Amino acid sequence: MTDVVKIDDVADGRSDATAKLTLGNNQLEFPIYDGTIGPRVIDISKLYGSSGYFTYDPGFTSTASCRSSITYIDGDEGILLYRGYPIDELAQNGTFLETCYLLLYGRLPNQNEHIEFSDRVTHHTMIHEQMNRFFAGFRRDAHPMAIMVGCVGALAAFYHDSTDISDPVQRDIASLRMIAKMPTIAALAYKYSTGQPSIYPRNDLDYSSNFLHMCFAVPCEEYKVDPVLSRAMDRIFILHADHEQNASTSTVRLAGSSGANPFACIAAGIACLWGPAHGGANEAALRMLAEIGTVDRIPEFIRRAKDKNDPFRLMGFGHRVYKNYDPRARVMQQTSHEVLDALGIRNEPLLQVAMELEKIALEDEYFVEKRLYPNIDFYSGITLRALGFPPDMFTVLFALARTVGWIAQWREMIEDPEQRIGRPRQLYTGPAVRDYVPIEKR
Ligand code: SDX
Repeated sequence: MTDVVKIDDVADGRSDATAKLTLGNNQLEFPIYDGTIGPRVIDISKLYGSSGYFTYDPGFTSTASCRSSITYIDGDEGILLYRGYPIDELAQNGTFLETCYLLLYGRLPNQNEHIEFSDRVTHHTMIHEQMNRFFAGFRRDAHPMAIMVGCVGALAAFYHDSTDISDPVQRDIASLRMIAKMPTIAALAYKYSTGQPSIYPRNDLDYSSNFLHMCFAVPCEEYKVDPVLSRAMDRIFILHADHEQNASTSTVRLAGSSGANPFACIAAGIACLWGPAHGGANEAALRMLAEIGTVDRIPEFIRRAKDKNDPFRLMGFGHRVYKNYDPRARVMQQTSHEVLDALGIRNEPLLQVAMELEKIALEDEYFVEKRLYPNIDFYSGITLRALGFPPDMFTVLFALARTVGWIAQWREMIEDPEQRIGRPRQLYTGPAVRDYVPIEKR
């Protein structure tokens, strides 16, 4: 029997707006909620209880999983706001630690708050000395993301005094510890892969200068951090800090909904970010540009990206939400020019390939029709490689920056009165009940 399904928005714009669903003889009404800006939502949480139906939305393309006041994205207009501030304004004018404060506490800090917050972060940058033994256990050629997942999860073993998620003081300490220690762990993973000795954090350096110093200094001589490069690093961290309910953030929220400790939740987010469809795309995009190699080979790769029988995709292109230019990609492209100019690498061939590839793709009807634009990962690899990082460190840097976003979303989830353990259902397509058959009769 086909159920007649009709959805009428019986009232619009009022707080008591509802959506009416007709299922056979069953008339159902569901509340409609309005956000500050952006799409309205239909609260279908009572649907199964009142109809015996689930909704079906693989990939959650039409599903709002929570209320959030942290980040807003308008994919059609290419808009990204952190607590209402446009990403390009924060990236051009602010610092990463200022953005961390904004994401965590909902407003920009004043001078004294910024100094106090920065000082608190600075004094959490060292990791427990015994953690250094972790690195010795990995193969030298271990992917640094594998090291990050392992080490961040292990933080719970060393900082057990900030794992009680019901205690807001412990939640705050755990938050600061992760924001402060991610650069130290990332730098340790990088140094371990190079065979160079690790470099301790320094309290006299700002967040991004300290990170570059831990990555590129050696004990044999003084290493002066180039202010242009540390400013670029800081801006790259700002661009990657948060992005609404993306796959890794949703992973952190789902892990946190069971009451798991904050270090385990962030380790889960790092694991999810590693995928090439998500945060792993920056490494994949640079490898793709290197494989293309020269501008004359671009048409071959555009053809492959359009070929349904070819699994190849243009890495760094397309986005679940942005159906316009990713605003972060624009700032990242500017930053790549700044860094390359500062380093005197004016005609970096991969940047030429990237810019020509973007130009051709944006004029190609396949990409226009599917509204595929460069995303943040398209230019980041060129910039990060110019800063001195190998491709397998790119997603580590993404995870370092996104840690504050994951933490802000995790804290919001815990403080949300509607919060309960996340437990989706399914459309079952397996065999109906059947009797066991003894092995001799199979
Ligand atoms: C990030 O969610 C976030 O916010 C993520 C992120 C963040 O800050 O957290 O922004 C970070 O993950 C950015 C995205 C990085 N990933 C990549 O650059 C990998 C390449 N991009 C694609 O894999 C894809 O675009 C996704 C995964 C990003 C989005 O996938 P969707 O939304 O599920 O879209 P889709 O796969 O359904 O694609 C729609 C169509 C398909 O064609 P049809 O089946 O409709 O014929 O567009 C095609 C796809 O084949 N398509 C591409 C393409 N991306 C999509 N074709 C060629 N090259 C591409 N890059």
